[in-house]
Amino acid sequence: MDVPLNLNHQFELIRQSATVAMADRILALKASGQKIVGLQVGDPDFGTHPAIMDVAMKALRSGLTHYGPSRGYPDLLAATASKLLRDEGVPYDPASEILVTHGGIHAYYTAMQSILNPGDDVLIPDPSWATHSNMAIMLRGNVIRIPAPAENGFIPPFEEWEKALTPRTRVIVLNYPSNPTGAYPTREYLQKLQDFAKIHDLWIVSDEVYGSLYYGERPTSAAAFEGAKERTILVNSLSKSYAMTGWRVGFLAAPKAVIDNALKAGQNSITCVAPFIQKAAAFALTDPEIQQFTANMRAAYARRRELVLRLARELECEKVLVTPPQGAFYFFLDFRPLKMSSLEICERLLEEANVGLVPGSAFGSQGEGFVRMTVAASDEDVEAGFRKIVEWAEKQ
Ligand SMILES: Cc1ncc(COP(=O)(O)O)c(C=O)c1O
Repeated sequence: MDVPLNLNHQFELIRQSATVAMADRILALKASGQKIVGLQVGDPDFGTHPAIMDVAMKALRSGLTHYGPSRGYPDLLAATASKLLRDEGVPYDPASEILVTHGGIHAYYTAMQSILNPGDDVLIPDPSWATHSNMAIMLRGNVIRIPAPAENGFIPPFEEWEKALTPRTRVIVLNYPSNPTGAYPTREYLQKLQDFAKIHDLWIVSDEVYGSLYYGERPTSAAAFEGAKERTILVNSLSKSYAMTGWRVGFLAAPKAVIDNALKAGQNSITCVAPFIQKAAAFALTDPEIQQFTANMRAAYARRRELVLRLARELECEKVLVTPPQGAFYFFLDFRPLKMSSLEICERLLEEANVGLVPGSAFGSQGEGFVRMTVAASDEDVEAGFRKIVEWAEKQ
């Protein structure tokens, strides 16, 4: 007999991520012995630098196997502040304006917990990483998607922000370079958005986890504008920039009042980030050799990006259109000439060409007709996968 359960109705508003569903199918196929070229993951194909592991091992052996400080060790807070000054040019007080978190996703969670009240409007570009919307929904925010169409370089036309504004608007969520498109706006655009946020008294929550992965000019942090710091909340992590996705360590940088709330959210959800991981993170953020390691990874992604662009020129396929990403490690391939849903394209590419990808519709309605392909895979896989994709598309 079915027993009725009283559950949180907010979860009915959240769709199971198509990314996870595709990943499950890919795993099942692999388990059955099928050889799949996996270009679906958002995880660096590089190992964590061994020097970072040595620091963690040493910390473990020295006895850092108990609870640690919820805010973060002072040396990690200081390392984070010096990273923010070095890379973004923004000074933060390590004692009051930074919180160490369980990865970027937890930084985003504590940020949204700290500022959202039920029913607040949260403006989020479409397409964007599904967690940005899902988390806001779980916290009873009212998510409004702001179209960021391909025709505008996947940046919302400015008037779309103005159109979406209501008396309930509280937060703008940004993620540049973007997952899935790799796009980021100009300095002038961000300045205008900051001015807009100031006039309408809005928070800007800026997820900058791909901030160190760019191919042209370094993207500007949303906090790096005159007066911006007081209304901007930076979400970041070591996952992508230091190939440390499994370590689960990140940080939030924000005005003291936000950090005070976020600290309570952290204390009452995870207690603290594991102490030996905090020590490894402090080392990673500051050691010069590790910064070079990040630069080397960036160069490898740039090489693979060039490889795809060269292949796209050589193969001259008109059924899949390729735009060069500005940052992150994804291509958002345009399959709109095929007039098929992006889910169908991914399912068929998996079954008929053995390539794992993510449907663009997982990122919002503006992603329909697009497919996300990562270059966080070996050069061989990127080349073989892209060739198979084009070969398949030509047959449609
Ligand atoms: C835009 C964006 N933010 C945050 C994250 C999660 O980062 P972390 O592994 O540090 O939690 C991801 C992971 O894919 C992401 O794409």
